[in-house]
Amino acid sequence: MTATIIDGKKAAERIKARIKAEVAMLKAKPGLAAVLVGENPASKVYVDIKRKTCDEVGVYSELYKLPEETTEKELLHLIDKLNKSERIHAILVQLPLPKHISEENVLKEIAIDKDVDGFSMINVGRLASGEETAVPCTPKGVIRLLEENGIEVAGKNAVVIGRSNIVGKPVAMLLLNRNATVTVCHSKTRQLGEYTKGADILVVAVGKPKLVNGDMIKEGATVIDVGINRIDGKLVGDVDFESAMKKAAYLTPVPGGVGPMTVAMLIENTLERYKEIMGK
Ligand code: GUN
Repeated sequence: MTATIIDGKKAAERIKARIKAEVAMLKAKPGLAAVLVGENPASKVYVDIKRKTCDEVGVYSELYKLPEETTEKELLHLIDKLNKSERIHAILVQLPLPKHISEENVLKEIAIDKDVDGFSMINVGRLASGEETAVPCTPKGVIRLLEENGIEVAGKNAVVIGRSNIVGKPVAMLLLNRNATVTVCHSKTRQLGEYTKGADILVVAVGKPKLVNGDMIKEGATVIDVGINRIDGKLVGDVDFESAMKKAAYLTPVPGGVGPMTVAMLIENTLERYKEIMGK
């Protein structure tokens, strides 16, 4: 078997075009504030892409690049200002934050209506209860790729590798909400391959190149590679692409798979936050 490659770039372009057309009809533009603290090189790249995409689709954006030494109090003060801003409907604080700042304290300060990432406790609780109000962008992008490619989720064995709050846990919740039988594997899982070989849908979100190879994949499975690793200047995922291509029915590439969908979902979520706020 040779897998069909799931083209996340194309899907993201379609979604952005639809949003662009919708935004063009609006008198007041949706506004996103992105906050970056410190010098994490990957975060800098992601935030710049997010900002550029806002420009592309006509979404107003403000980018705050704060120095590493920023105190928690200063950051909370900025969030308070953004919560009150009429131009801003969506607030994104790029994670991870520097160690001296509590992510929990910061995320809970973001106004619930403006929580574009869905990382606040209330939105995490909503998702866990089956209410998908503000869904984290990467997990939402994963599900959208399955939907757009006509991949059935209900009744399937889904295995998620990785249990981060940003990807693994919310992906597992979304799959469960769609009636998959979900197993979450992580760094302490023994005999990972025994789980992955039973997966009809395998989502890998760890950050370890070649963690999963073709021998660990069930013939005909759908494999979604969320990993982004830089090896000798080249981007690779968590899945060994060549061997996975021979076993899977569907496979996402890195780059060009989930990554572009994360940004498209951020813009979609920004528009949703705008509608929620303006509809009140
Ligand atoms: N860090 C890695 N992924 C994300 C994301 O989707 N949103 C935010 N805010 N930070 C991240």
